[in-house]
Amino acid sequence: MKQALKQLCKSLRLGYVMNHYEDIPFTSPEQYLYEVLLAEKKEREMGKVRRLLKKARFHQLKTLDDYTYESITFPVSLTKEKLQSLEFIQQKQNVLMLGAVGTGKTHLATALGIEACKQGCEVRFFRVADLVSLLQNKHQSGGLARFKREMEKCDLLILDELGFVPFHKDGSELFFHLISECYERNSVIVTSNLEFAQWTSVFGDNRLTGALIDRLIHHAHILAFTGESYRFGYALSGN
Ligand SMILES: Nc1ncnc2c1ncn2[C@@H]1O[C@H](COP(=O)(O)OP(=O)(O)OP(=O)(O)O)[C@@H](O)[C@H]1O
Ligand SMILES: [Mg+2]
Repeated sequence: MKQALKQLCKSLRLGYVMNHYEDIPFTSPEQYLYEVLLAEKKEREMGKVRRLLKKARFHQLKTLDDYTYESITFPVSLTKEKLQSLEFIQQKQNVLMLGAVGTGKTHLATALGIEACKQGCEVRFFRVADLVSLLQNKHQSGGLARFKREMEKCDLLILDELGFVPFHKDGSELFFHLISECYERNSVIVTSNLEFAQWTSVFGDNRLTGALIDRLIHHAHILAFTGESYRFGYALSGN
């Protein structure tokens, strides 16, 4: 009977029922069936979140629980609660996180991305320099169109550390095209140490930089990270 049940679950694609049905107490047929199916549903959802987290390729795991917002100046368009609700993803808006080193930009961007995965969103995390070399490789190997289609399917693209490394002309253009394709279709979080005036030094071209900033900020919330580096604070406190 157990073997037949296993087969039946397999053919109905109930991947988790067999893990749970023996542990669920029986009070009534309705209650039992309900709890067995609920266990199946919960495990499926957890499996989906695990897959989304893996696909996102976060560099570190950070949460919003231990995050303090003291050093962030919010724009009038956004509050901490609204940001955490991830409404900006549904509305295909961008979030630009600008400020000095060690002020918590990557932490917040990562924690929001992890939250988005938990809500079932497709997320990708890239350091901008890595993304640009990836775009260049894909361009050379003929895989660029496929890569872009994959990016189009994402709900949220996190682009970390814009400005640490300047790009060559072709790298800047490839990056610009990707951002253009995301415009009003996907939500993007960008973190950077640079003010907009300095972005030309990264992309090398005034017009291209202007057009890029224009697309990024059209539907965007700009958060200013001020204050001391947390790394510096940790080092001073000996943690
Ligand atoms: N507001 C915060 N609350 C709690 N921890 C924080 C906060 N801000 C930063 N940290 C911690 O401080 C360290 C540095 O933060 P993070 O890497 O996010 O800074 P950053 O702004 O991305 O810096 P960089 O510009 O150098 O990339 C991390 O370990 C992070 O978890
Ligand atoms: Mg960072």
